[in-house]
Amino acid sequence: MREMQELRLAVNGTPQTLAVESRTLLVDVLRRNLNLTGTHIGCDDGRCGACTVRVNGAPVKSCLVLAHQVDGAKIDTVEGLAPRGTLGILQTAFKRHHGLQCGFCTPGMLMSAAALLERNSTPSEVEVRAAIAGNLCRCTGYQHIVESVLSAAAELRGEARPAMLTHAQSDSGKSVGQNVERVQDARLLTGRGRFSADVLPPGTLHAAILRSPHAHARIKRVDATRARAIPGVIEVLTGAEAQQICKPLPPTINIAMRMNTSYSIAVDRVRYHGEPVAALAAIDPYLAEDALAAIEVEYELLPPVVDMAGALASNAPRLYDEWPDNRCLESDRSPRKFDR
Ligand code: FES
Ligand code: FES
Repeated sequence: MREMQELRLAVNGTPQTLAVESRTLLVDVLRRNLNLTGTHIGCDDGRCGACTVRVNGAPVKSCLVLAHQVDGAKIDTVEGLAPRGTLGILQTAFKRHHGLQCGFCTPGMLMSAAALLERNSTPSEVEVRAAIAGNLCRCTGYQHIVESVLSAAAELRGEARPAMLTHAQSDSGKSVGQNVERVQDARLLTGRGRFSADVLPPGTLHAAILRSPHAHARIKRVDATRARAIPGVIEVLTGAEAQQICKPLPPTINIAMRMNTSYSIAVDRVRYHGEPVAALAAIDPYLAEDALAAIEVEYELLPPVVDMAGALASNAPRLYDEWPDNRCLESDRSPRKFDR
């Protein structure tokens, strides 16, 4: 029986009283309990910043905070930046200056930028870059984001700042060769984008993967009995079981190189830190993590090989018993010279 505790938050100005487990992360309360899916999860361990919200005004990565740690706090998410269906000055600046592409990082980026502009009305470029340093964007190259924030700061100070790029709606009905407005921007800037993790049909299961804590080890035993007995755990697969129903992983590059036979879950040996050792599905992501912790794995540690010279040494431990050494490819191509 999972013990619930009362939690009180003021989210985007609305008081909320909820009953949640003491271990529930703030990001899950926002996304799952309150359906505020504009706050994204890109990594769930504090690296990407996609989950950034403001807690009593300060930018906070909500995947690193237990909801009960902020009991009584004022929480602001991207959905509260402007009245529904409208864009505030900061969001409009992102739209005008192309501060977003796929939009996945955008809510977190906006919340970090909003916190900066509230405490500093005249940020320099360096200060903008420092404020968003914890927010990773794989798409934009950051320049347009920085320009968006600087433009919003100028507008908030009452200074006109010409847009770096302008959109002009094509009236010819054609978009090739025209600057056209991106129809998806308003949705992405207000937290109404729909990414795959935001769509959870009834009955959706949550996967979790148990990974090797060792760089090189023989798997002597995997016992998932206790994990399987946890109510709500639907399936557990060890490497040996997965081997019965899955084909080996196909080669990822098609060149003349020695290939090994490997599976998505290690069968009898792990060859890198983090290699999957078991996988499971459960009705809830927290249950799935509980079940991972209940899987017992016995390893026999083997010597790791951590660099190329070590891997090629005549006495190096061989990663694949069927190979004569650790070479997968030999090439005598000279380094290519580029004409200038
Ligand atoms: S999901 Fe929180 S930092 Fe990546
Ligand atoms: S806009 Fe795609 S990750 Fe930033």
